[in-house]
Amino acid sequence: MSIKYSMRLVSQKQLAKDVYLCVLEGDLVQQITAPGQFIQLQVPDHYLRRPISICDYDQAANQLTIIYKVFGTGTAAFAELEAGQMVSCLGPLGNGFDVAAAAAAEQIVLVGGGVGVPPLYGLAKALLAQYPQKKITAVLGFNQADDVFYAPEFAELLPTTVMTIDGSLGEEGTVIAALQPMTVDYIYSCGPTGMLRAIETAFPEVKGQVSLEERMACGFGACMACVCKTDNDKGYARVCLDGPVFAMGSVVYE
Ligand SMILES: Cc1cc2nc3c(=O)[nH]c(=O)nc-3n(C[C@H](O)[C@H](O)[C@H](O)COP(=O)(O)OP(=O)(O)OC[C@H]3O[C@@H](n4cnc5c(N)ncnc54)[C@H](O)[C@@H]3O)c2cc1C
Ligand code: FES
Repeated sequence: MSIKYSMRLVSQKQLAKDVYLCVLEGDLVQQITAPGQFIQLQVPDHYLRRPISICDYDQAANQLTIIYKVFGTGTAAFAELEAGQMVSCLGPLGNGFDVAAAAAAEQIVLVGGGVGVPPLYGLAKALLAQYPQKKITAVLGFNQADDVFYAPEFAELLPTTVMTIDGSLGEEGTVIAALQPMTVDYIYSCGPTGMLRAIETAFPEVKGQVSLEERMACGFGACMACVCKTDNDKGYARVCLDGPVFAMGSVVYE
């Protein structure tokens, strides 16, 4: 059940250039059912809420973590909020990643690009808990060293390759360059549409799931602002309600 909650901002800290980690506390956390779900944050002086993925959550502590990049005026206003302030949050929204779908796979790779990296952290924890015997690795792609965040946290959980386009940190190139030599039989990915399309083109035979970050308004299926083309019988889906996670191969990238 998703609903509007008032959450207490516990802390904010800067992780990288324009990237912040924020901990929120409140009963919304009890309703989270899968990694990859998101919340819609109310930001000061903005009518439309901003969708941000749940990076990690702790139901015993009633807390969740989000990581967001200051992109425009909404996220900039949110970054000004301080510990102790109350934030109106709608959620948990969306379907989240299906961990059970990887049951038959032996080699699972999590592929994140930029602000698509955060929801893969909670997913990594869920996969490791469910499949301690499987080989699970992560590939995190960024433009340059300044943009990189959360790589050490991922590396504490699982083998992690960091790719930067200019080679200023980790390996040089896109996430595709890291994936090419690997043996992979299941991919979970979140990041820019171009990256998701490139992965599906490079590995058409590999099963997996992709999480989309479309522009949104309502966040719960009422306004159609987030429609994307899919191969289902309607020919489209609402990213907020039917996604944001879709089976690889089912999204028609434009
Ligand atoms: C399901 C989902 C999960 C997301 N998770 C994260 C995350 O974990 N971390 C993170 O940094 N960003 C995430 N985003 C992107 C984030 O929502 C946008 O960067 C943010 O809304 C930009 O708001 P703004 O006011 O700063 O920018 P503005 O440009 O001022 O925003 C104007 C409008 O466009 C929408 N918008 C702009 N860019 C995007 C975008 N890329 N995706 C969706 N809506 C957009 C805003 O919601 C707003 O309605 C996510 C988006 C979606 C849909
Ligand atoms: S944002 Fe309104 S239907 Fe998806």
